[in-house]
Amino acid sequence: MEEKIFQMHAEVCKSLSSPIRLKILNSLREGEKSVEELTKLLGLRKANLSQHLAILRQGRIVTTRRAGLNIYYKIANPKMIKACDILKEVLFEQLAENEKLVKKMSAQNQYPKKVHKFPLEMKEKLDSPERKKLLNPEKALISLGIKAGMAVADIGCGTGFFTLPLACLVGEKGKVFAADISKEMLIDLRERIEKEKLHNVEVLLSQENKIPLKAKEVHYCFLSAMVHELENRDLFFRELRRLLKDKGKIAIIEWKKVPSPLGPPLEERISLSMMKEILIKNKFCIHKTMELGQYNYGVVAVRG
Ligand SMILES: C[S@@+](CC[C@H](N)C(=O)[O-])C[C@H]1O[C@@H](n2cnc3c(N)ncnc32)[C@H](O)[C@@H]1O
Repeated sequence: MEEKIFQMHAEVCKSLSSPIRLKILNSLREGEKSVEELTKLLGLRKANLSQHLAILRQGRIVTTRRAGLNIYYKIANPKMIKACDILKEVLFEQLAENEKLVKKMSAQNQYPKKVHKFPLEMKEKLDSPERKKLLNPEKALISLGIKAGMAVADIGCGTGFFTLPLACLVGEKGKVFAADISKEMLIDLRERIEKEKLHNVEVLLSQENKIPLKAKEVHYCFLSAMVHELENRDLFFRELRRLLKDKGKIAIIEWKKVPSPLGPPLEERISLSMMKEILIKNKFCIHKTMELGQYNYGVVAVRG
């Protein structure tokens, strides 16, 4: 019997021995998905995805359901997700250990040597028509999955380029907490909120790694063009984990590391692959990534 279990265990490991198949499982953690949904989420060609799904199905890791022309896939046994999460935790711990070693070996700090905060004298640029041409805020928020009724913290909200569309999107049953460390930015934002007569926005003066909100208060933390300004990413993301409800999400918009008519200096920007590493290191699971216009990208990550 024991021999048989070892054999079956090895077969399961073989079925999971591909990062793509692990990503597929991760995408199915919240429920069944059709092949079309999975292709979009994972950015794979249908033929490639089908090969991986067939392996997972043969290994009895996923099951299928046909509805009309669509085939839906779901995880056969939710304990499989728990097992993957435990393994992930082990890997996080290993990564943390490695980092400690690197830190010891290097006199340099792991964070950018100098972070620069957005210069106040340039605040008009944040809500300029030029920026709106590069990035449509309403469309971006919808692609990031923000919906009516949600409680969203717009952290590093600035003068409100996204806060106002966010307030419209979450509607009267939703709530936007707009936080920034800059009093001056918040003065401008308050004026705009009053002018637009918005009743679902609360403006909060926050500190570098401390946001004045209760634990598990929000469904989404929204961070636009601010992660590259953080002094200590680990402390900041720990604070976001505190604010988020279980399975809450972070939605990030940043500037691609390519020359663009607006945006911070290239050397201060964070590439999409680096951003994913930062999130994974801080115990978030990447849910989806996307292009937002020519010069920005978006990432949604779930509180792990
Ligand atoms: C480039 S602006 C972006 C503003 C806004 N999110 C947007 O997209 O228009 C960055 C903002 O993040 C704020 N900020 C920087 N570090 C912060 C922190 N640790 N917590 C809260 N806000 C922060 C700055 O004061 C600034 O208003």
